Order: sequence, then C-alpha cells, then structure tokens
Amino acid sequence: MAMLKTPSVLISGANKGIGLELVKQLINSPVPPAQILATFWQSSPTQVKAKDNFCQELEALANEHSFVWMIELDVTDSASIRRAVERVEAILGSSGLNLLINNAGINSYATLKTVTAEDMMVVYQTNVVGPLLVTQAFLPLLKKAAQTLDMEKMSCNKAAIVNITSLLGSITLSQKNFRSAPMYPYRLSKVALNMASMCLSEDLKEHQILSVAVHPGWVQTDMGGEEAPMSVTDSVSNLMKLFASLSECDTGKFLDLEGRELPW
Ligand SMILES: NC(=O)c1ccc[n+]([C@@H]2O[C@H](COP(=O)([O-])OP(=O)(O)OC[C@H]3O[C@@H](n4cnc5c(N)ncnc54)[C@H](OP(=O)(O)O)[C@@H]3O)[C@@H](O)[C@H]2O)c1
Repeated sequence: MAMLKTPSVLISGANKGIGLELVKQLINSPVPPAQILATFWQSSPTQVKAKDNFCQELEALANEHSFVWMIELDVTDSASIRRAVERVEAILGSSGLNLLINNAGINSYATLKTVTAEDMMVVYQTNVVGPLLVTQAFLPLLKKAAQTLDMEKMSCNKAAIVNITSLLGSITLSQKNFRSAPMYPYRLSKVALNMASMCLSEDLKEHQILSVAVHPGWVQTDMGGEEAPMSVTDSVSNLMKLFASLSECDTGKFLDLEGRELPW
C-alpha cells in the first residue's frame, strides 16, 4: 500500500473539526511530515472573546511537536494570506510546500425562501474565493516543491492541492439529495470550488502539481452536526489513505473517501 510521506503540509481551518484531526493523524502517521503548517483565523476581537480557547488543542499540539507551526490565515483576507505565505516561506526555505489542503469552509442553511445576497457572498468568499486565492498565493512554493523533488509522478508526496468539497456540490446527485439539504449558498459554493479544482488541475499539470476535489463524508463536526454517521477520526483516517494513493490518474477528479469518482 502507498504511504503518505509528504515533507510539508499546510491545512487551512486547522483549529477544529476535520482540519484539527488531520494535524493529529499527520503527527501520528508512520512518516510524519517534516513540517505541518496548521492555520487558524480570528475574525474579530469580539469573536475571539466568544471563542475563548478556540485554539487550545492546536496550541497544545504545537507546543509538544516542534514541527507543528500555528500560522494565522483568514482565507477571505488578502493581507492575511500574504502574511501567511511570508511566514511559511521563512519556515520551509528552499524546499517549498508539498501539500496544500484547502479545508476551511463555512455552511449556511439558507433556503430559497430565506437566502440573501449577503449569505451568498459570505459563503462564496470563504468557500470559493478563499481557496482559489490561497492556492494562487502558495503556488510559487508548490512549484518549488515540484521542482525540488526528483520524482517522475504526481503525488501528494511531491506537490498537490486538495480541495475539501462536498457531495452537496454535485449537480447530478442533487436530484436525489436536494430535499434533505436545500442549502443554496453552500451547494452553489461547492459547485464553484469543484470547478476551481478542475481548472487548477489543467493549469498546473505542466508543473507536475496534482489537484483534486474530495468529499470527506458526512462527519460529526460543528458543521456536520451530531447526527452525522461518520466520526471525524474515521473520515480523516480514510482521507490519509486516499492522499497516499493519489497519482497523476486522479488529478482533476472529484473523489469520495474511497477514491471513487463522484459525478459533477
Ligand atoms: N462535516 C461534514 O459533514 C462535511 C461534509 C462535507 C464537506 N465538509 C467540508 O469539510 C471542511 C471542514 O469542515 P468541518 O466539518 O471540519 O467544519 P468545522 O468544524 O466547522 O471547521 C471549519 C474550519 O474552517 C475555519 N474557517 C471558517 N472560516 C474561515 C476563514 N475565513 N478563514 C480561515 N478559516 C476559516 C473554521 O474556523 P473557526 O471555527 O475558528 O471559525 C474551522 O477551523 C469544509 O470545507 C466543509 O465544507 C464537511
């Protein structure tokens, strides 16, 4: 079985949920990355207060493991993205960034009746514009990694972008699952993220950078809710296996946790 041996990983939204569990399982993997860049954001001073200790677990991991770095990154703020790139560049030096996981995201339960322009824009900004501009900003570091590692094939060990998307972003499957989750902003944003993922794969093939859109399952997190059938541990252990198995055959695909292709 292929093993994930990526030298460096950056994860957006790593203070909780799937992002935090990714940090934990990467630390405990057979060959942990030499550097884990775990990012978090602080939206406003009032929110920071409200989210007292919101980074406690991540902080503990960073204190315990010198290769875990906490980096501030608000995916909706270009100045924050720029600062994060500078910080990551200083940490990684000439080796570049091997794996970028665009995980940060927000939900909205707005229906046709309740949806507002603001709902649409906020969700689109975080779930689509954010990952795209984060990828654009980290691209020089991904290219550096792709050039530095003398591997013929594309992989997450070399240089890759993983966009954490959702089944709800499948237009085909919405004929079956729309009624159970009529969430307009979220669905529309994940459709657009899927397209971004495909565009990136076409754009970056020549640089040997892989790009995939991955549905992590319906998972017990703040976003997925308690009724979700899958634990965050199971979702992420499957994600880790999937990342290890990805190759040039997968770039541009929309995949589930088992590596099966999902319909757009
Ligand atoms: N859970 C599911 O069932 C499920 C299903 C399909 C897809 N997904 C996708 O999986 C990804 C992770 O979701 P999750 O379930 O782990 O949700 P979660 O527990 O709500 O975590 C979302 C993360 O994104 C961060 N975030 C939100 N806005 C941000 C911004 N502007 N800049 C940087 N970070 C930001 C959050 O930070 P704060 O908490 O500090 O705001 C949090 O760390 C999302 O893209 C989601 O759409 C989840």
